[in-house]
Amino acid sequence: MKNIFDAPFLTEIIRTTSNMYRLGWDECNSGNISYLLGENETGQYIALNNVIRSFSLNIDAKKLSGKIFLVTGAGKHFRNVQYNPEENLGIVRISNDGRTAELLWGLSGGGRPTSELSPHLMCHIARLSVNPENRIILHAHPVNLTAMTYIHSIDEKKFTHTLWQFCYESIGIFPDGIGVLPWMLSGTNELAEATAKKIEEFRLVVWAQHGIAGAGASFDEAFGLIETSEKAAEIYIKVMHMPDLNIPSDAQITALAERWNVCPRKGWLN
Ligand code: 13P
Ligand code: ZN
Repeated sequence: MKNIFDAPFLTEIIRTTSNMYRLGWDECNSGNISYLLGENETGQYIALNNVIRSFSLNIDAKKLSGKIFLVTGAGKHFRNVQYNPEENLGIVRISNDGRTAELLWGLSGGGRPTSELSPHLMCHIARLSVNPENRIILHAHPVNLTAMTYIHSIDEKKFTHTLWQFCYESIGIFPDGIGVLPWMLSGTNELAEATAKKIEEFRLVVWAQHGIAGAGASFDEAFGLIETSEKAAEIYIKVMHMPDLNIPSDAQITALAERWNVCPRKGWLN
């Protein structure tokens, strides 16, 4: 058996949590991550027949039965993950009946998987249905995107349009746009279901006055989506109270989309 602390998937999640913390996206315990692992890659590092403890799920995750996820723990601080991955992270497998997450490694000291495990699993089901390569769901509380939900319309077409205008790269990175949900209670099935519905259509879903969820086939994709939309929101927040003199036109944004060979969501640009 190889040493799990040499596993590329562990290095990736540790670097991601540290970067997210340093960028100010994940103060205290905020944010959570789930990373779909392959059975073969995981089996090289841990025994797959040793269930340490189990956590019941409040959703039917049968579509993911047998699938293995590396997840952040409930109430754990992203700042601390790099210093003690075994306590702050866990590897869980979804049981055959889809009702339980079986702990195979980590969450030492009696921890539990993120309280948002249900939305994460439902988002994986939704994304895998449209992209079988999807592996990552990231949830974070970036400052500027969240601030924007306090003062900008949360109509998703208007919200996306502003973000396309306020960062040069936006249209190239998220031409599919951003879904937006109103304020909702975290940890509930209602939020899980609403997010899963949106994330099937959009790789980014903003939770108003809370944060954002991003999906991707890799950390680069999911992280890049959040950092680009957050950059656009930061520029918007910096200048929105000043007279707007030089906002790019829809024709200019369309020209960028053509240059990068991407298709903006139909009807969202004039
Ligand atoms: P957890 O600590 O349970 O992952 O919750 C953090 C969070 O961001 C809730 O929305
Ligand atoms: Zn949150």
